[in-house]
Amino acid sequence: MANERQTPQSSQNNTTEHRSWASPFRRPRRLRTSPAMRNTVAETSLEPRNLMLPMFIADGIDEPRAISSLPGVYQHTEDSLLRAVEEALDSGVQSIDLFGVPADGDKDARGTAGLRPDGVLNRAISAVYRRFGDDVIISADTCLDEFTDHGHCGVLSKDAHGREVIDNDATLSLYSEMAVAQARAGAHVVSPSGMMDGQVQVIRDALDAAGFEDVSIMAYSAKYASAFYGPFREAVGSSLQGNRRQYQQDPRNRRESLLETQLDIDEGADIVMVKPAMPYLDVLREVADMSPVPVAAYQVSGEYAMISAAAHNGWIDLEPAIIESLQGIRRAGADVVLTYWAVKAAQMLRGGA
Ligand code: PBG
Repeated sequence: MANERQTPQSSQNNTTEHRSWASPFRRPRRLRTSPAMRNTVAETSLEPRNLMLPMFIADGIDEPRAISSLPGVYQHTEDSLLRAVEEALDSGVQSIDLFGVPADGDKDARGTAGLRPDGVLNRAISAVYRRFGDDVIISADTCLDEFTDHGHCGVLSKDAHGREVIDNDATLSLYSEMAVAQARAGAHVVSPSGMMDGQVQVIRDALDAAGFEDVSIMAYSAKYASAFYGPFREAVGSSLQGNRRQYQQDPRNRRESLLETQLDIDEGADIVMVKPAMPYLDVLREVADMSPVPVAAYQVSGEYAMISAAAHNGWIDLEPAIIESLQGIRRAGADVVLTYWAVKAAQMLRGGA
């Protein structure tokens, strides 16, 4: 194509000489000349409906409690939770993901407070469902770590050599019980985040057997053992000592995410997820390319904390950084983005950001 614009002389010249006089033929800047032009050709959109808001509900508090490492995020009381859901709906955000924070005395080795209908998370699901019905999609974290006194996502046991391990199969029955309890409380979506093998299948079976065929599963499929969960552990008062590397994925691996995602799809996942988001955008792109079901990505607490801290120090401009980070996650292939900025971003988008 470029040849069409070359003079006979120039086509005889070598490339260096050609560059010294020809004006560029391709000018990508033409499509960047005005906001209207840029909007016309933009490949990706970011809308409030793409955003899901993770929220924390705590037992035994009278006032919402700020989380120091997540400025602007709170552990909610039931009242403040309902107000915050209202605010989310007003902003255009239509889905939430609820995490429970039990009172310290309510934790045990098996995380049973997460299964009981009167546990803090199930009470919160019921309260939101009673108030908002199907107007807000209630997703619930289906994992034991917030409720266990050792902080792991599964139950502990000893293997044949006497080593302490996270017992995959013993954990599965607790997950299915937990998922059914959440569905019964009114959850539209259960979201197993514990990275136990086979978790989606047992949850699907249990939901169907209990008559909850219409409750969806958002599977944390490619979930990495990440340092970026740090502030979340403050947010839920985690009791974890050590790490989760026996069940969450190794950050060095890519193929493994495709296997995990395929297994979850085969087991019946309705939505698959990659988590964290920004350090794993390559994985997100590959999962988005292969997945026949919608893909979610979780912009986790450490991602939020980093950008917030830089902005707080005046090193970065908060609002454009939020939008850019979310656009990047969308561009990498996420249909749904879980972010603690869901409401703020939705308000900014509606204001014309
Ligand atoms: C486990 C869970 C975690 C997060 C969401 N679900 C913590 C973990 O795996 O240690 C982290 C989310 C975040 O950092 O924002 N129930």
